[in-house]
Amino acid sequence: MSYAADSGVCLDRILASTDLSGLSKKDATTFTRRLKAHFPRLFDKYTHVYGHQYDCYFHLQKLVEILRDGVKNRKPALKKLDNERLKNPLWYRDEQQVGMACYVDLMGPTLNDLHDKIPYFKSLGVTYVHVMPLYDAPKGDSDGGYAVSDYRKVNPTLGTVKDLEKLASALQKEGINLVLDFVFNHTSDEHAWAKAALAGEKQYQNYYYLFDDRTIPDQYEHTLREIFPQVRRGSFTFNEQLEKWVWTTFNSFQWDLNYSNPEVFNAIASEMLFLANIGSAALRLDALAFIWKELGTNCENQEKAHVLIQAFNCCLQIVAPAVVFKSEAIVHPDEVLKYIDKDECQLSYNPLLMALLWNSLATRKTRLLTRSMKKSFSISENCTWVNYVRCHDDIGWTFDDAVANELGINAFDHRYFLNQFYTGRFEGSFANGVPFAENPSNGDCRVCGSLASLCGLEGALKANDLKGIDDAVKRMMLLYGITFSIGGIPLLYSSDEVGKLNDYSYRFDESKKHDDRWVNRIAVTDEDTELALGNTSPSNATEATSLRVFNELRKMIGIRKQHAIFGQSTTQILDTDNHHCFAFLRENSEGHKLLVICNFSEHSQSTQRILLATLKGASSQDLLTGETIEMNASPLLLKPFQQMWLLAN
Ligand code: GLC
Ligand code: GLC
Repeated sequence: MSYAADSGVCLDRILASTDLSGLSKKDATTFTRRLKAHFPRLFDKYTHVYGHQYDCYFHLQKLVEILRDGVKNRKPALKKLDNERLKNPLWYRDEQQVGMACYVDLMGPTLNDLHDKIPYFKSLGVTYVHVMPLYDAPKGDSDGGYAVSDYRKVNPTLGTVKDLEKLASALQKEGINLVLDFVFNHTSDEHAWAKAALAGEKQYQNYYYLFDDRTIPDQYEHTLREIFPQVRRGSFTFNEQLEKWVWTTFNSFQWDLNYSNPEVFNAIASEMLFLANIGSAALRLDALAFIWKELGTNCENQEKAHVLIQAFNCCLQIVAPAVVFKSEAIVHPDEVLKYIDKDECQLSYNPLLMALLWNSLATRKTRLLTRSMKKSFSISENCTWVNYVRCHDDIGWTFDDAVANELGINAFDHRYFLNQFYTGRFEGSFANGVPFAENPSNGDCRVCGSLASLCGLEGALKANDLKGIDDAVKRMMLLYGITFSIGGIPLLYSSDEVGKLNDYSYRFDESKKHDDRWVNRIAVTDEDTELALGNTSPSNATEATSLRVFNELRKMIGIRKQHAIFGQSTTQILDTDNHHCFAFLRENSEGHKLLVICNFSEHSQSTQRILLATLKGASSQDLLTGETIEMNASPLLLKPFQQMWLLAN
């Protein structure tokens, strides 16, 4: 018997014994209709992972009840959004979409204050706001909120769930999508499930991976990657109270959830629907690569991790179809691609582009960027990239060693160089970054720092070097310009838009000083936003630069929004005859074409005009300068760090 036939019988039986009387007639009809459409897939995924367990069908039935309750709790405004998004499922490929990620406390400091920042978002053109995790979390170190103690409670210092719902609906009214974190690989050790486990409840001990001694942890550790070697070696933590080893991929207080237990899947599905029903348009799947463990592997990107995410996706399709998933897979480029699918994650961070933009800025060369993007940029047209330059985390040099090898680049040495360069240890470097997670065993290292500091603004301001300041701003615009034009949702990281420098104050805070990522978690104050909005005037070079950065970004965003070519178009990465230049061609179904050419060097560069032939017109217009560019024989000149957005005339 095929699965499809099986799932039909299964659904009929489940429905026969599921009480739908709490749903309105309309909801009951919608729910049954959507179940009929999506249950076969859910059944397939669920039984793939849990089918061998005697209680699989018991839990599957319970899951349907969780979905029913999710539908019951969905507010009318969100159901309306469901219908809108079902009619326009590719909204995220629209040129209007521009994102920003921010911390409530660093921009608020409360949810209600963030509410008042809506005009600021609008002035920049932001239509997608990812508020960093704001759930109840342990006091002191909570991994920046990524150790969640209660998904249904907002951290009291930021506000309440009611405030969050209010913010969500205010944003929805302004056409801004709210993005929330779905931190589902682990909970904090203060979550009610962890507390019950600590109290000795077997049922909740089965929510986590607990081991009586080192035998099994040792076997796993042979093949595991250490994520935060600077704070703790290995991936397990001995818990004195339990006298057991707990699987903790990240910090010791972040306990990995045990997805081989179907009860965990159901419990987390219920939390996920709660977050969807607050009014989020997308959920960011934190650390999704780690959710399935398999002995003898690195326990990242396992096949069953994909199946579980697809199963969660089915749950959303049934209850909250407006909500999409964003993959946060900061892993090998080939593995990043595997999460991207209409039925898995419709959106994905693009860590490869991010890392290679920084690489090109350091080396002034674009061959690794070009070769890698040719290989990995193209994804399903039902999905889209979230292109970013900086975020709250470190930068890992996540390029494909094989691609580097093809170009004669030794990957290990090159990563060493990049770390040296961005931490300012390399002679002549413009960057002020901080090393992160140096691993004494294998020499691995990553880099932290703000956009502005990594681009050279910190050093230039300190030295009062006007040319240096100008170069730094141009570097910042070059990187962001590519995220605005290459295809996908550009995601600004709040504080970048006003060019804030590294914040070293974390070094004096006991709960932060061991985690250098805090150097790039920077407050955007009312003074910053007032200055950016033109309500106050700059009084020094730092402020003048800040205003310049904001205005130039705003201008580029404005141009992006005026041309459909920046939205649903294909992207073709092009070769150029100058190894300092990077180029790509966008093309849409109406035959419109945009050619982007960028110069990564601080010197003027020329390329043959033959690239312009891809536009197939006699002339084109640079949208950034308004200049007309003719198709003729003389080489095309690009100023230092210049990018051209050439629209075919
Ligand atoms: C993600 C987050 C990071 C966090 C980790 C564990 O990678 O971006 O900040 O430390 O997950 O939740
Ligand atoms: C992750 C990544 C790692 C990243 C870290 C956060 O999920 O895989 O490379 O840097 O968490 O710091």
